[in-house]
Amino acid sequence: MGKNTFYITTPIYYPSDKLHIGHAYTTVAADAIARYHRLNGKDVFFLTGSDEHGQKIERVAKERGKTPKEYVDGIVKGFQDLWQKLDISYDDFVRTTEERHYRVVQDIFREIYEKGDIYKGEYKGWYCTPCETFFPETRLVDGNCPDCGRPVEVLQEESYFFRMSKYADRLLQHIEANPEFIQPTSRRNEMVQFIKGGLEDLCVSRTTFDWGIPVPIEEGHVIYVWFDALTNYLTGIGYLDDKEMFQKYWPADVHLVGKEIVRFHSIIWPIILMAAGLELPKKVYGHGWLLFDSDKMSKSKGNVVDPVVLIDQFGVDAIRYFLLREISFGSDGNFSWEALVGRINADLANDLGNLVHRSSAMMKKYYKGVVPEPGPERPLDAALREDAANTRRKLVSLMEELDLSTALATIWRFIGSVNKYIDEAAPWALARDESKGDELARVMYNLAESLRVISLFIYPFIPSTAKEIWARLGLDDELTDHLLGQARWGEMPPGTVIRPGSPLFPRIEDEKPPAKAPEAPQKEAIPEVAIDEFARMDIRLARVLEADRIAGADKLLKLKVDLGGEERQIVAGLAQHYRPEELVGKDVALLANLKPTTIRGELSQGMVLAAAAKDGRVRILTVDEEMPAGSKIR
Ligand code: ME8
Ligand code: MG
Repeated sequence: MGKNTFYITTPIYYPSDKLHIGHAYTTVAADAIARYHRLNGKDVFFLTGSDEHGQKIERVAKERGKTPKEYVDGIVKGFQDLWQKLDISYDDFVRTTEERHYRVVQDIFREIYEKGDIYKGEYKGWYCTPCETFFPETRLVDGNCPDCGRPVEVLQEESYFFRMSKYADRLLQHIEANPEFIQPTSRRNEMVQFIKGGLEDLCVSRTTFDWGIPVPIEEGHVIYVWFDALTNYLTGIGYLDDKEMFQKYWPADVHLVGKEIVRFHSIIWPIILMAAGLELPKKVYGHGWLLFDSDKMSKSKGNVVDPVVLIDQFGVDAIRYFLLREISFGSDGNFSWEALVGRINADLANDLGNLVHRSSAMMKKYYKGVVPEPGPERPLDAALREDAANTRRKLVSLMEELDLSTALATIWRFIGSVNKYIDEAAPWALARDESKGDELARVMYNLAESLRVISLFIYPFIPSTAKEIWARLGLDDELTDHLLGQARWGEMPPGTVIRPGSPLFPRIEDEKPPAKAPEAPQKEAIPEVAIDEFARMDIRLARVLEADRIAGADKLLKLKVDLGGEERQIVAGLAQHYRPEELVGKDVALLANLKPTTIRGELSQGMVLAAAAKDGRVRILTVDEEMPAGSKIR
């Protein structure tokens, strides 16, 4: 007998800012999968949470004048409100700042240390704070993060290292022996190439900031945020506190993640588990990205769509349906207002909404709303019954493959067949002919039965619509007491009273974005700052003395500037906007107390301020009259 449990997780998102529709996408998909398995009688555990430590969070909190904990408390509350609005049926939510999680992370760290796979050394290299990732010099692209393209920072500190290299062969063997382990296949191939390129030991502690879980064997070190975050998958099912529960659900059936973090989940995480002597998850599924104008939506790019605005405007199920139907699961897909309105009008208002409306209106007209005893089956009626059974079989196999978008397309194909059945069976014609009473009763029974089956099919994806249809059918029991895999045609009891209702999905008549809806992506509101926060910026007028290109960096110029008696070197991203000689002699606005950094091996002691237009032009800020170098800008 197969295992009757199903453990699914989402990534635990960073509470550096509120969530956008991209995060909602992963969580809605996980929810549909969780609900599907529950509807198949599985004992499901669905875990989500928040990844609250790390340098990025520490910095953002500081910028907003809050302690990290104060800051994340507010944002995490917003996560939970969003999940409630989106009907997310999670079973637990791990905050990495919880005491139960600290204990698990420290326990795993100590365990691996005692086995000798964590050792002390010195880290020298680069760190991308937005990605919370270490990179060797050789992996940088133009001196920037190879994953997100943003600047990296140089790091040199005493650290603990995790002996990942030792496990590379074992991991490769596991991946090769278990084709289901990393999905889709394209991502598995990428990971295999990555491992074959050689795994370096991973730096798993930091000493230069302290917003993290302390290393249990030495003070002054905090555990690397990814080591901390990944371990949430153990915390959530009681690794230390409820051994029985842990035995029951581990290993996870699916870690559902976005494609950019497949590497952490299919390389670092399995190696942590191997080193700790635990079983590996059965599957890591890396879905694609939701794009806006073909660019990845991301908080730091400011092109995010706020899911709360969309839900308030269109309703939760319209958004859930759109996300799961429009984007082919596993691939990237575009978010657009036109596509959203198109799906709502065509699939929800027309196909599904009209079917429910027509069927209940006819039931009322011909039978006062009471489902009749069905007459004998004609070929037309039998074809519909078989179609329903085939649809259910296909749905089951597509859901096993996590092909959510095709699963919805398959259900909607069936909804189309039922609409066609109405047109072909023409109940209005049967109703005019007294000798056709049996036929009319069969057709109307079949419509009620189709709606019952459709509510079971759509429940994982759009649960509140499914329950609403179920309720209108007047059924005594709960939809969720049924098992999808056993849905049999003919379980609709005759005599049930069908209740008509208002349209499930009103058509959106206005073809242009309504005022409230995001036509262009909503710009993240930039929070207000107090004057003393502004005063912390030392912005001064600097005279450019020299300007040179930097070999091999086509965007950068190296400037020597005079800050009123003090000379500084600045690396500025101006090479595509100014020739070096155009800048010499100019007075520019300089952020003078920006933490010095090294870019392309050149020291940079400040940042030149410039205006950046949407069309890509960039012009420096200067003064309209001669002023002494070093003058304060305020
Ligand atoms: O990476 N399209 O958190 P995060 C699709 N804390 N999915 C998107 C998306 C988009 N445009 N943007 C975000 C982290 N996502 C870590 C995870 S897990 C142990 C630690 C989704 O806040 C997608 O699931 O950056 C992606 O992997 C995740 O949000 C990243 O969220
Ligand atoms: Mg990210």
